[in-house]
Formats: sequence, C-alpha cells, structure tokens
Amino acid sequence: MKKNIIYNGDCVEILNTKVDEASVDLIFADPPYNLSGNGLKWKGNQTGGDWYMVNENWDKMSAPEYMRFTQKWIGASHRALKDNGSIYIACSYHNIGEVMIVLKQLDFKVNNIITWYKTNAMPNMTRRTFTHATEFVIWATKGSGWNFNYEEIKKINPEKQKDGSDKQMRDLWEMPLVQGKERLRGIDNKALHPTQKPEEMLKRIILASSNKGDLVLDPFLGSGTTTYVAKKYGRGWIGIEREKKYVEAAKKRMNKS
Ligand SMILES: C[S@@+](CC[C@H](N)C(=O)[O-])C[C@H]1O[C@@H](n2cnc3c(N)ncnc32)[C@H](O)[C@@H]1O
Repeated sequence: MKKNIIYNGDCVEILNTKVDEASVDLIFADPPYNLSGNGLKWKGNQTGGDWYMVNENWDKMSAPEYMRFTQKWIGASHRALKDNGSIYIACSYHNIGEVMIVLKQLDFKVNNIITWYKTNAMPNMTRRTFTHATEFVIWATKGSGWNFNYEEIKKINPEKQKDGSDKQMRDLWEMPLVQGKERLRGIDNKALHPTQKPEEMLKRIILASSNKGDLVLDPFLGSGTTTYVAKKYGRGWIGIEREKKYVEAAKKRMNKS
C-alpha cells in the first residue's frame, strides 16, 4: 500500500481498493455538509475575497442520496481503520443527524462532540434565525483501546489555570475561520477552497489521537490541510480528493512544507 500520497478520485472507491484493511490510525473527514444553496453572493466582505455561500456540485444531494453516501464513506473508513483507530468527522447542524446514525449503525463509540465556535462567523443575511457561529467535530473510535495523548493536549491548550499551569482541554474550541496568510488564494486573490479548515484544528486532532510515524488519512482532502499538518508533525499521510483543481492545490501545499 502506498503512503504519503494524494489520490484524485472518489473516496469510497479509493478507500476500498488502494487502502489496506485495518491499516490507518486516524481519519479526519470533512465531508460535504449538503448545504449548497442557489448561488447566494455577498460582495465586498473582508475574509477571502468575495465571500460566497458554499455552492458546489459536490455538495448537492437529495436527503436519501445523502444518507446512502454517508453510509458508504463511513463504512469504507471503518474498513480502513485499525481496531484501535479514531475517526474525527466535521459536521454542522445540517448533517450531524445522518453522521451520528451511521456511526451508531457501525458500532463506533462516540467519545466527544467537539463544538467549534467560529469567532469571526459570518452575519446572518436572512435575519430569520439566530446567527450560526458553530460547527462540530465528532470523535468516534472503532474499539476500546483508542489513543489519547492527554498530557500533550494539556500542554498545547491555550487556556491555562489561574496559576498559569496547564489545563485539561475542553470540547469547546474557539478559533476563527481561516483568514490572512493561512488562507490559500487563487490568482484572482479569492479563497481557493470554500471550506478550508484551520491548521490549529488539525494540530489538536493529530496530536491527540496519533503518534509520530502513525498513518493519518483524509477522504475529503480539499485544500490539503490534514496532510499538511500530518507531515509537519511527523505522521504518514494519505489524502483523497475528487476535484482536480483541489488536488493540484493540495499537492502544491505539500511541496512547500
Ligand atoms: C468540506 S471540503 C474539505 C475541505 C478541507 N477540510 C480543507 O481544509 O480544505 C470537502 C471536499 O471533498 C471533496 N469531495 C466531495 N465528494 C467527494 C468524494 N466522493 N470523494 C472524494 N472527495 C470528495 C470536495 O471536492 C471538497 O473539496
């Protein structure tokens, strides 16, 4: 089986044909949330060039199709994970229901639902609901012998005790949407990928649930955040991404690291 590679293709097919059974220590998956609207645009914001609602073909499925898709890719991830492996799945209120049902169907153990509080969340243009400022990351494990590097995570926790000593990390993570130098941009200076995840998020996940030399896999690699951070911390990595333009961006990012 090849390691330290980015595949261009469908994650279910590649997980089932190119990745050995029970070979992966940690999976981070940031799947389509199935929330794409109809091209709403908001010109003139400051975050990634013109900000836009996620409106991509890979993010449009009917409800039954989305359920089947969730079953397929979590099933293929289950096959690839080692018996003590961990999977972290990014989601929002749109798709947390489907993800939780499938995890339970496959007998995964849910250890945490981490809430990501997006400190620079976009305002609500419709003015008809509370402003959405959170996403979630579900941490689930295949068996009972999962890895959790408690002391290391305590050390990197930005929150400290009153006396300045290290503090246990809570399941509420405050971090902004990716901006500034970290944000990958195209030649038009617009955000290259609509849902680039913060490197700080991947750092916490990779340091918590893998060790140096372990294998980290991302089935929905996008701009390459997971493989970039995995390499930085001495882990092996595999990324899978369907869209060629994102595969190229991710490979370029890896070559810079
Ligand atoms: C939410 S984004 C991931 C963003 C990523 N975490 C980052 O930091 O850039 C989901 C990605 O999955 C890709 N994708 C959608 N369906 C896929 C499939 N069946 N197999 C592989 N990739 C897929 C999309 O092209 C998109 O780039």
